[in-house]
Amino acid sequence: MEVKNAHFLMSNSDVTKCPDPNKPEFAFIGRSNVGKSSLINMLTGQKKLAKTSSRPGKTQLINHFVINDSWYLVDLPGYGYAKVSKKSKEKFQAYIVDYVLKRENLYCLFVLVDCRHEVQKIDLEFINWLGEKEVPFALIFTKADKLSNTNLAKNIASYKAELLTHWEELPPLFVSSSESGLGKEDILEYVDQFI
Ligand code: GTP
Ligand code: MG
Repeated sequence: MEVKNAHFLMSNSDVTKCPDPNKPEFAFIGRSNVGKSSLINMLTGQKKLAKTSSRPGKTQLINHFVINDSWYLVDLPGYGYAKVSKKSKEKFQAYIVDYVLKRENLYCLFVLVDCRHEVQKIDLEFINWLGEKEVPFALIFTKADKLSNTNLAKNIASYKAELLTHWEELPPLFVSSSESGLGKEDILEYVDQFI
């Protein structure tokens, strides 16, 4: 799929105020600073579409973008960011939980994990919760440019092995780099089959 146009539509913290669910929707979630907003910019080819920051906790709302006038792409706040979690006292903010469970046109939630790290407890908890709730999801390993091919392959293999101790089968998996553009075609092709 070619992204011909992409524009920002709205931000909010209430799933009932999101745009009409009249287009297939794909959302990006994961720990703060994992690279969600950067990936959205890479996929759309617009460097400043989603706001990024080297400091975690940048994205704080549910942000809707319209792609090719035919599908919604959503940038979500990260989880696991101490300052935010402490304030709200919940691991996963209530409006994110609401969004994930109630957004009827959500075709796939892309869960991003940093390819440099071992499986993190909070990611596993989140993924297991998605499985329990039967939310369709896929995994994206981010920041692939930060590892050698050998270490990348090693980390992904151990991540898969860990997931298979909890799950009978693996979800769809992608590897990405917002720096090099790795993963762009595969992720957009995956989205394309639904729209
Ligand atoms: P929150 O909105 O705070 O939850 O973070 P986020 O997941 O949206 O992360 P964001 O895209 O803002 O990126 C965080 C930092 O990681 C920024 O400094 C990015 O430049 C950097 N970054 C993101 N993706 C990549 C990548 O693929 N490669 C490299 N080298 N750096 C990346
Ligand atoms: Mg962000």
